[in-house]
Amino acid sequence: MSKLKTAFFCQNCGAKYPKWLGQCSACKEWNSLVEEVVQNPKTVSIGLTKSQSSSKPIKINDIDTSNNPRIDLKDSELNRVLGGGIVPGSLVLIGGEPGIGKSTLLLQISLLLNIKVLYVTGEESQQQIKRRADRINSNSELCFILNETNVEKIITEINLINPEIVIVDSVQTLQTDSIDNSPGSVSQIKESTSHFLKYAKKTNLPFVIVGHITKDGGIAGPKILEHMVDVVLQFEGDRNHIYRILRSKKNRFGSTAEIGIYEMLNDGLKQVNNPSELLISNNKDPLSGNAISATIEGIRPIMIEIQALVSTAVYGTPQRSTTGFNSKRLNMLLAVLEKKAGFNLGTKDVFLNITGGIKIEDPAIDLAVVAAILSSNINIPIPKGICFAAEVGLSGELRNISKIDQRINEAEKLGFKFLIASSATKISKNPKNIKILQYSKIEEVIKNLFKEQG
Ligand code: TYD
Ligand code: MG
Repeated sequence: MSKLKTAFFCQNCGAKYPKWLGQCSACKEWNSLVEEVVQNPKTVSIGLTKSQSSSKPIKINDIDTSNNPRIDLKDSELNRVLGGGIVPGSLVLIGGEPGIGKSTLLLQISLLLNIKVLYVTGEESQQQIKRRADRINSNSELCFILNETNVEKIITEINLINPEIVIVDSVQTLQTDSIDNSPGSVSQIKESTSHFLKYAKKTNLPFVIVGHITKDGGIAGPKILEHMVDVVLQFEGDRNHIYRILRSKKNRFGSTAEIGIYEMLNDGLKQVNNPSELLISNNKDPLSGNAISATIEGIRPIMIEIQALVSTAVYGTPQRSTTGFNSKRLNMLLAVLEKKAGFNLGTKDVFLNITGGIKIEDPAIDLAVVAAILSSNINIPIPKGICFAAEVGLSGELRNISKIDQRINEAEKLGFKFLIASSATKISKNPKNIKILQYSKIEEVIKNLFKEQG
């Protein structure tokens, strides 16, 4: 018997090495190399008939897309993130941490659609899925649940049932006969996905595939998976909060700027159409340490509340803790406050929270973060009706931000009376019900914001 040939594959990026290494030199991940058997994939029929599997070149002008419109998924948030529904023949990969609600979202859609759906699960039993369906109080005559992990068998069932959309939960459980490695290994994930990809392209059947996520946020398995599929979505949020955000990381058929917002309730995920109203607490009297920022997530304006707590450090080294905000950025803002505005926060603990467990990357949130910290530090609330939208630079200058008109509109809609922005920001129209106050330096904002009280 000939000796089996093996090689080491990085489980993070899929790079192949003849020998074991502590660190993958391609993606720099430590301890990610695993030995796998190297095989040439056996030719296994994936259930395509001859007419389905041949393709001839045709003129681009002659390609007909009219009888092939996007499929409406009956979920406005998901439709929007996909760019208006799922494109037939496309492969959508949806990633997220365990327990975030991927299976719930996909089951919910499967039950809402009035087309035939095949929901393939390798992770849960059919009874578990049924129980979840009962929990979200939904049922459908057209939804088939298949408990299977073998790609060839799944494709046989697809050929029998003839669904109009297939959900696969999850790619890490799949296993194809064309290679012998164990499920979840780089070669299995790659090979299984490529079978579905081929099938999808030839038959125009769309697939939605769940992918688990690694500790640093990427989809587990080789990066090559993200290159293969048409759309990569990420479902994120804090498991202890109810809000979930669906983002698009890659979309061959639409913009990646759209986001979808959901609430995880006891009976499933609900779409959130008015996120700003939900994310701002409705305290009668303003509280110190709270500031509201007019942010943009994707292309959607959202008003976000930031809460800061500044207190004297009990231990020698002061603590800095953030949720939803980059902690390095917080340190930078604290240094700016110290240097440019004369606030000595070096001996203080600073805690910063973005309400709702949402992660914000928009730099326009900086000014609100600074305002919340100062308000907590001097224990004076920011008057009601004020919101902020400006980036803070290293020398304490307020910097220009994008899409100011949309932010103003949203703030005005929610009844804010003042928006504090940078004087570098050009405002094209004059809003009626909200006043825009523009400053060039952080010191000016502090002086004007707390002048009556302080
Ligand atoms: P799930 O969809 O299984 O997550 P994933 O597939 O991403 O791992 O969601 C599991 C979590 O969601 C679980 O902790 C329970 C919670 N949940 C609700 O809060 N409400 C519901 O209606 C359902 C079905 C789940
Ligand atoms: Mg799941």
